[in-house]
Amino acid sequence: MFRTHTCGELNLQSAGQEVTLSGWVQRIRDKGGLIWIDLRDRYGITQLMMEEGTSNPAVIAKAKELGREFVIQAKGLVIERISKNLKIPTGEIEIKVVEIKILNKSILPPFTIEDNTDGGEELRMKYRYLDLRRTPVRRNLELRHRMAIETRNYLDKQNFIEIETPVLIKSTPEGARDFVVPSRMNPGEFYALPQSPQTFKQLLMVAGYDRYYQIVKCFRDEDLRADRQPEFTQIDCEMAFVEQNDILETFEGLTKYLFSTIKGMNFPEPFPRMTYADAMKFYGSDKPDIRFGMKFVELTEIAKGKNFKVFDDAEIVVGICVPACADYTRKQLDELTEFVKKPQIGSKGLVYVKFNFDGTIKSSVDKFFDEADLKNWASKFDAKPGDLMLILSGNETPTLKALNEVRLEMGKRLGLRNPDTFAPLWVVDFPLLEWDEETKRFYAMHHPFTSPKPEDIGQLETNPGLVRANAYDLVINGVEIGGGSIRIFNKELQKRMFTILGFTDELAQAQFGFLMNAFEFGAPPHGGIAFGFDRFCALFGGSDSIRDYIAFPKNNSGRDVMIDSPATISDEQLKELNLKITFEPPKK
Ligand code: AMO
Repeated sequence: MFRTHTCGELNLQSAGQEVTLSGWVQRIRDKGGLIWIDLRDRYGITQLMMEEGTSNPAVIAKAKELGREFVIQAKGLVIERISKNLKIPTGEIEIKVVEIKILNKSILPPFTIEDNTDGGEELRMKYRYLDLRRTPVRRNLELRHRMAIETRNYLDKQNFIEIETPVLIKSTPEGARDFVVPSRMNPGEFYALPQSPQTFKQLLMVAGYDRYYQIVKCFRDEDLRADRQPEFTQIDCEMAFVEQNDILETFEGLTKYLFSTIKGMNFPEPFPRMTYADAMKFYGSDKPDIRFGMKFVELTEIAKGKNFKVFDDAEIVVGICVPACADYTRKQLDELTEFVKKPQIGSKGLVYVKFNFDGTIKSSVDKFFDEADLKNWASKFDAKPGDLMLILSGNETPTLKALNEVRLEMGKRLGLRNPDTFAPLWVVDFPLLEWDEETKRFYAMHHPFTSPKPEDIGQLETNPGLVRANAYDLVINGVEIGGGSIRIFNKELQKRMFTILGFTDELAQAQFGFLMNAFEFGAPPHGGIAFGFDRFCALFGGSDSIRDYIAFPKNNSGRDVMIDSPATISDEQLKELNLKITFEPPKK
């Protein structure tokens, strides 16, 4: 037997017991007459102790051979510690060791395997199996595991069944690029890895499995960010015989259940709902962080006609009122101006109005606007003495987007984006289509299977840009946690949709014939949603990066630096697949 207990479970009640532990040597302190070893496993750390004079000299000699991360087995007696560490559950006891066995040696690890490590991100990813030994990383994976279990518990109780769908499929157009896999048996042909199981879950509805879910890997070849990985996991769901409200209620239920079981937090009220149009108008984002206010206020009408060319030429003049920041210094305001001018934000400048604590008003555009004008603005903003108004102008969409960044930045500076506060929100009524200037065509904003709102169907051909969809997102703290829609389940409407998206009948048939044909065999009304599971875990864990919640993530260039992938393949493999590489890989 390798162990009688784990390294996380012994305490004063176990004093006097003979025990055997196995684990990794985290730290050795050799104080001459006394040697202490911190022994670690998945469950915690237990202190081992040996003492010159009272311990067996062979044991002491063995202890001196040990190094960090050696795997050992230690037998001994649980005794009460003299100097206790009340921060850990085993901190009141130690093991007086009578026997040590080295199960395996370790070379010196490249970084310290403790809660606070000296290892940089790249190094920790290269040796991820060592990084995973660290308690904070392990806790993240434990959280992920718990969330998966509770998700299954909830959905199971609601009659959902988990059904696996294939990973080698055919391209589904969901916005991102596909990862493709060449087929050896079908020369010149490729599978695609699913961006999501979208079409399969719809086929399962046609098949009569009216409540499907799957915790499933999805693959998207897109630019990576802190909240995006090329392979990520969804809680993917679909329901038949439902309307939008049924889906929102069921998955609001799942979200509340997870908050309650995992975080002990209750949300007695229904989650607020906001239309996409309002989200854009008041927050400049389809995923507003509503943990704090600072809603946008439009000044376009009252700010024009005072010879301030910047405003006069603008499509929109819009701002936010930042509470209690009128004492911002010149330097702080200059910094903010630099912030809005960053290329990724793209504003030309920032106008400020300080509503001073003494009631006076001062702005960066005093030359053009008198006190009465500025007071008029202040009343539009509902500003109070001490508030700072920040105003941007320009073309509508980029200006709203830039102001969203300013709002988030000010929220961060004021400590209003507290990771322990959660503000869920449903964003509903997304537009069905999105115009792309570059290719001069419409794209489906969610995906081509999303249904238009019945009252807007008449405008599909005449005014496609104005048609709203039965589509919704769950947003929590400014993060898009999930999204879904009520689907088209009628072949004719689906065909119309493909036509608007620029598919010829032949192309639509070639790509989606299987789905449209299935719709002819009695497809029930259906809809669904998918939650970004990695994002959900990161949100619950209080992190911005989903990488912390994935055992073996990829870096920002989509590489796994541990296994060194992607990698070239042998000429033989290429030949077998009938592939020829025309690109010369850079020499390593
Ligand atoms: P959507 O594309 O909105 O919908 O994806 C659902 C959720 O998945 C998460 N997500 C990601 N997480 C990590 N890395 C990525 N690269 C990534 N891309 C998306 C987001 C997102 O809200 N089939 C539809 C769902 C449906 O209509 O039912 C779909 O995939 O949290």
